[in-house]
Amino acid sequence: MTSQYKIGLLHTGIREDERMILDQSKARGVAIEPIDIRSTIFSPQSFAQFQPYDLFLQRCASGAKADQVLRYFTEYGKPIVNNLELSELCKNKYATSLRLARAGVPTPDFALAFTEDKVLEAIDQLGGFPVVIKPVAGTSWGRLMGKLTDVHAVEMILEHKEALGVNHQSFYLQKFIDKPGRDIRVYTVNGQTYAGIYRSAAHWITNTARGAEAVPCPITKEISEICAAAQQAVGNGLLALDLFETADGLMVNEINHTMEFKNVVKITGIDIPGKILDYCLEEIKNHESTK
Ligand SMILES: Nc1ncnc2c1ncn2[C@@H]1O[C@H](COP(=O)(O)OP(=O)(O)OP(=O)(O)O)[C@@H](O)[C@H]1O
Ligand SMILES: [Mg+2]
Repeated sequence: MTSQYKIGLLHTGIREDERMILDQSKARGVAIEPIDIRSTIFSPQSFAQFQPYDLFLQRCASGAKADQVLRYFTEYGKPIVNNLELSELCKNKYATSLRLARAGVPTPDFALAFTEDKVLEAIDQLGGFPVVIKPVAGTSWGRLMGKLTDVHAVEMILEHKEALGVNHQSFYLQKFIDKPGRDIRVYTVNGQTYAGIYRSAAHWITNTARGAEAVPCPITKEISEICAAAQQAVGNGLLALDLFETADGLMVNEINHTMEFKNVVKITGIDIPGKILDYCLEEIKNHESTK
């Protein structure tokens, strides 16, 4: 039986993750249609074609393009997973750090500064070298981030960042966390954590896209609790959190709102596409009940 609802899957090319969602929707009888945002016009005149959809699932690889499309559907009152507010918060690492810190969720100490002098002062405030410098937004897979070990590295990196242009001139710094050769990537929905992997590497950057080895991570009470607290701080949605293990307990490094999951499904056997679809259907019902 096909569900009465229709979901639009917004994309900029069907990757393996999106293919898994489409396959799972067939198996579950959920009506879902891929919408390539590159072959569509988003104007007031073109909205009629989107009216039949009950919800849009944002799976674009290009975050910058997706941002505009999220604005479009938000303006027309269509539910989106994840919604614009949550997406804007999570895509900006500085905004996420601020929200977590203000909510009392453990997260590495951080600072933002705009000049070399203030960066050096901020590094002192963070307890000294080493620190990590990251783009506030617009990158993934550990790209364009650096471990600053001394004042010469600061000079060199800031000079290069100046050359990269305006998007790279807000200097977001995080205390370097001496983690045990791995971090933890966990998947949550509505504050419930349902899948996790350890990502281990000899390098301090442990993204699987950079070659880290991934193995299943059991979801402990501590993991569940910190993820529930983080989700409560940022709002409900489908999230992937990066956690660090420290001597003082877990910390949330960052929160991803358009996560890749294909390898996690392969490693853990957990049906993440099914969780995504369940959440979409739940959101449609929530939206209907508020109409
Ligand atoms: N403050 C830190 N201390 C130690 N290691 C860090 C720190 N920040 C990041 N790392 C390492 O670098 C990796 C990538 O950092 P982060 O998750 O912040 O950015 P990203 O992966 O590029 O973003 P996304 O997950 O959205 O692709 C982390 O998984 C972790 O292994
Ligand atoms: Mg990450």
